Amino acid sequence: MNKKITMAALIVGATSSMAMAQSDPLRFDPENFTRQTLFMPDGEEVTYKAYEGLQYVKNVEDSTYQTLNIYVPEHLADIPRVPILMRTYVGGYMASTAKSPSPSDATGRALKEGYVVCIPGSRGSNSTIECDGKTIYTGTAPNGLLDLKAAVRYLRYNDSLIPGESELIFTDGTSAGGAISSLLGATGNAPEYEPYLKRMGAADARDDVFAAICYCPITDLNHADMEYEWLYGCTNTGVRHLNEQQIVISEELSAQCPDYINSLGLKDKAGNLITADNYKEFLKTFLIQSAHRALQEGCEIPDTIGFKFYQDKSGPMGGPGNGPRRGMGLRTDDGRGAPSFGPGNAPRFNKTSDYVTALDLDKYLSFVASVTPLKTPPAFDQMGVLIPTPSPENKVFGNKAGEAANFTEFSLRHRLNDASAKLDKDMVKRVYLMNPMNFIDNGKSTVAQNWFIRHGAKDRDTSFLVPINLAVKLENTGKNVDFFLPWNRPHSGDYNLDDLFNWIVRTLK
Ligand code: DHB
Repeated sequence: MNKKITMAALIVGATSSMAMAQSDPLRFDPENFTRQTLFMPDGEEVTYKAYEGLQYVKNVEDSTYQTLNIYVPEHLADIPRVPILMRTYVGGYMASTAKSPSPSDATGRALKEGYVVCIPGSRGSNSTIECDGKTIYTGTAPNGLLDLKAAVRYLRYNDSLIPGESELIFTDGTSAGGAISSLLGATGNAPEYEPYLKRMGAADARDDVFAAICYCPITDLNHADMEYEWLYGCTNTGVRHLNEQQIVISEELSAQCPDYINSLGLKDKAGNLITADNYKEFLKTFLIQSAHRALQEGCEIPDTIGFKFYQDKSGPMGGPGNGPRRGMGLRTDDGRGAPSFGPGNAPRFNKTSDYVTALDLDKYLSFVASVTPLKTPPAFDQMGVLIPTPSPENKVFGNKAGEAANFTEFSLRHRLNDASAKLDKDMVKRVYLMNPMNFIDNGKSTVAQNWFIRHGAKDRDTSFLVPINLAVKLENTGKNVDFFLPWNRPHSGDYNLDDLFNWIVRTLK
């Protein structure tokens, strides 16, 4: 009798959970997958279960982008808690569909390591839907970020159904995607986003993450113009070839930067305050560190780009002088760009004499600008100041009708030729929501404990100040930050995967 009741209760229970699965669009179905294989560059085959096209919000506005894919390797890593790599392919602040893993980036590598991979799509500056005969732009800021926060919530909401630990989410992105990754890391559970996420029908779950991997994050957008001019202004009449009007804009922007730097109250590792007065010396320490590692790894550094080397009259360079230094042995490329100036063909590295003693920063910045022409001022909020063309940032801060917009008072005032023009309240809020710097120490969000931040030593897409300030602010608030400016690296991401995955293993310990 008792047994019968139990059976009946079981049947009712099973039926109601099946009904729940059907009625809950955010519930993950572990049985609904296809089997796929990735062929890795080393010939290894990695087989995994693919769960694709999953809806991560209840109120989908744009079904082209608001879905995610989950990939679960057949052989999960043999560790107590398997992490989830959440990789966004956002670039240029544009929309990005949910993609498949690639053998040549962190997604393929993560699967090979036995980690779960999630690749969400998200709306962006160019995503549109047709509504009552009108084209609506769906991905204006902060909607792309909201989508990815909803994707994090989906992973947590379905934690018991999806292999891998939703408490161990590593977000990863490059450039605008690196910026979004930094926002995901900085804005966990921040109440400022709650009303938007509710409206979208995001899962009722937390959205903080364990770690953020940020390659060349194009962020701190409302200060990026002044930071760019303050740093690169030294090239205005040289390699940058600015005209008079551009120089005026450059100098106006540059003049705003010291107050901003000083307002941050950043400290170096020894606890010294970083100010506008000592910032350039501080920046040099990162570039010199990059050059030193390059030398140790076998790269050659020419003597024409600002680095000064130890002068050893009896040294292996054959007498006095400041010739190029060459590292020990051959540095092999990782296949994703050029890490060195070309490996030297004869090992000449000398531990005592081949090191950098000084850096002429202006000369080095001119070198960077000679490799890839700099952006013209203003580098980001450019629309209507000296040229009519909107930047990717002007577009993402645009409106539903697809009209791009200014997002700094500086550019708005120049465009309108009105020195008292003000950004409207809504824009001020959107700009605030898109800047991770606002959330690191505001006491209201759960900031990721672990950060991997890279910005190439010759990447001029944004000023070096942007990633440095982000990294130092995080470090100053007690986060674990692995920050580096990889030598001779242009604007790119997911390179040197050994470096990245060794760091992932360390953070999991
Ligand atoms: C990207 C690059 C930029 O220079 C920029 O201003 C915005 C985005 C990108 O590659 O994503």
